Amino acid sequence: MNLIILGPPGSGKGTHGEIIGKDYSIPKISTGDLLRKEVKRKSELGIKAKKYMDAGLLVPDNLVIEILKKNIERSSCKNGFILDGFPRTINQAMALEKIAHIDIVLNLSLSHKTIIERITGRLTCKKCGAIYHIKNIPPKKDGICDICGGKLYQREDQKKEVVENRLNIYEKQTKPLIDFYKNKGILFNVNAEGEVDVVSKRISELLKRLIKQLNQNY
Ligand code: AP5
Repeated sequence: MNLIILGPPGSGKGTHGEIIGKDYSIPKISTGDLLRKEVKRKSELGIKAKKYMDAGLLVPDNLVIEILKKNIERSSCKNGFILDGFPRTINQAMALEKIAHIDIVLNLSLSHKTIIERITGRLTCKKCGAIYHIKNIPPKKDGICDICGGKLYQREDQKKEVVENRLNIYEKQTKPLIDFYKNKGILFNVNAEGEVDVVSKRISELLKRLIKQLNQNY
C-alpha cells in the first residue's frame, strides 16, 4: 500500500503516519524530518533548505523531489510506504507520478484554532523524532522522551509568525492537491478533530475498508 497523508501544518500527519506505519509495517517518509536531518548535518542541501524552513516557506521543488526519490527507492519501501509532507505542490505531485503509484490519499481536516493549539504545544525528541504535546500528549518526565530518553525541544518553525506563514503557504500551494487527488478518485477525508486515539480509530476503520476494496480490484 502506497499512501499519502495530506493536511495543513499541525494536523497530525507525523503522529498518525507513525501509527499507520507500525500497524502495517511500512516506513513513513517525512520530507520535513529528512530536511531537518540535512540541516543538522549542515550538508549543502541542509544549508540551502534552512533559510526557507525557518521562514515557513517551501523548500524548492527540485531539492525536495531529489531527497524523496532517494528514499522511496530504498528496499524498505518495496512493500509500501507512507508519505508525510510530500507532495506539497502540484509540481511535486506530478514528479511523484513518475516515481511511484499511489493507492490512497488521506486528507486530514481540522479547524484553524485546533491547528494553532497543536503546533504551538508540540514537543519533538532530538534523538528519535518522537512527537509529544505539552497538554494533549505530555511525556512521563518533563522534557524527556519516553521512548529513548532523548531531550525534547520546540521546533524553530513553531513561532507564531512562522506558523501563520506556513498556513498561508498551505492554502496557496498545497490545498490545490485536494482537487488533484479527488479527480483521480483516491482522496478520502478524515475528520482530524479529537484525541489521537479517536482520530486513529477513524483512520484505521477507513483504511481497513479501502484495503479490502483495493485487494478485490487486484
Ligand atoms: P513538516 O515537518 O512536514 O511540517 P508540516 O507539514 O508543517 O507539519 P507538522 O510537522 O508541523 O505537523 P504534522 O501535520 O506532522 O502534525 P504532528 O503530528 O506533528 O515541514 C516543515 C518544513 O519543511 C516546511 O515548512 C517546509 O519548509 C519544509 N518541507 C517539508 N516538506 C516539504 C516539501 N514536500 N516541499 C517543500 N518544502 C517542504 O502534530 C502536531 C501536534 O499535535 C503534536 O504536538 C502532536 O502531539 C499533536 N497531535 C496530533 N494529533 C493529535 C490529536 N488527534 N489530538 C491531540 N493532539 C494531537
